[in-house]
Amino acid sequence: MPNLTGKVAIVTGGNSGLGFETAKAFVANGADVIIACRSLERGEQAKEQILKKNPAGTIKVLPIDLTDLTSLKNFADSFKSHYTRLDILINNAGIMISPFALTKDGFESQMGTNHLGHFALTGHLLSLLKATPNPRVVTVSSLAHKQWKISFDNNLCERERSYNRFRAYARSKLANLLFAYQLQRNFDAHGIKCLSLAAHPGASHTNLGRYMEKNVFVRLFRPLIERMLPSAESGALPQLRAAVDQTVIGGQFFGPSGFMELAGSPVVLKSSKNSYNTEDAIRLWKVSEELAGVKYKW
Ligand SMILES: NC(=O)c1ccc[n+]([C@@H]2O[C@H](COP(=O)([O-])OP(=O)(O)OC[C@H]3O[C@@H](n4cnc5c(N)ncnc54)[C@H](OP(=O)(O)O)[C@@H]3O)[C@@H](O)[C@H]2O)c1
Repeated sequence: MPNLTGKVAIVTGGNSGLGFETAKAFVANGADVIIACRSLERGEQAKEQILKKNPAGTIKVLPIDLTDLTSLKNFADSFKSHYTRLDILINNAGIMISPFALTKDGFESQMGTNHLGHFALTGHLLSLLKATPNPRVVTVSSLAHKQWKISFDNNLCERERSYNRFRAYARSKLANLLFAYQLQRNFDAHGIKCLSLAAHPGASHTNLGRYMEKNVFVRLFRPLIERMLPSAESGALPQLRAAVDQTVIGGQFFGPSGFMELAGSPVVLKSSKNSYNTEDAIRLWKVSEELAGVKYKW
């Protein structure tokens, strides 16, 4: 990790799992870190834990709820009133295979949280990214993105009656990649010197599996599975490399180098063919702007 003194970084979901490890690594290397999380209590606990190891570190907790477009706007306004730069935005927070639910604005919750929330947040913070020399946006996807094609039916959202929570998660993670790659194309088209990168952690031991509890197989084998899973610390390496490696190129995708991309040191990977579909990416961008009510001001 290079020295990050003077750099400002936001990590969504920085109170838990990969986000926590990412925030911790940034603080340890001198960055001014903002944990953006939905529970201030959990955020403050994370901050305390990080500061125990790095007492001289700079870390702040700000409230954000990715299921609420108003909260995203409020977060960005509050951030912009306190900071004049944003060097690294890590679009990390997420939920996985949750039962059908709607966000405050009426979107299916996995697409709403994982994609639309981060789409809106990045758009609100664009002016600050543009005002910062060589900033980066890193969007965290998943191996699950490979399993489905994007669907534009029902405003990107699964219908309750035919809801498949695995498909909904996979589509939201494919949307993360379509967004990350299109963001880089848009930066390039407008001559903006900002990098958009994507990453996936493979599989790692975090709190993401909370909705798996009801699965009998998982309940039975959970302790064993957890012991076998790589740590959150190693799962965070691809997003950390995307955030700080000086040799990266905009639009790259990082993940673990090992067997089936499940674990290992972070390397540049290829994502699915669908994720590079520019027609889908442009269409997703337009729909997302309409649904999130956020127009990017290049
Ligand atoms: N762990 C893996 O094996 C794995 C594999 C592939 C991809 N990923 C991706 O990695 C990212 C991080 O997940 P993780 O594994 O670190 O899971 P995690 O430990 O459950 O962390 C997820 C974070 O997202 C936050 N979050 C969820 N909904 C939110 C909302 N509406 N508003 C604001 N924050 C919200 C959570 O907050 P609370 O603590 O308040 O719930 C938590 O801080 C996700 O995008 C996930 O899809 C993880």
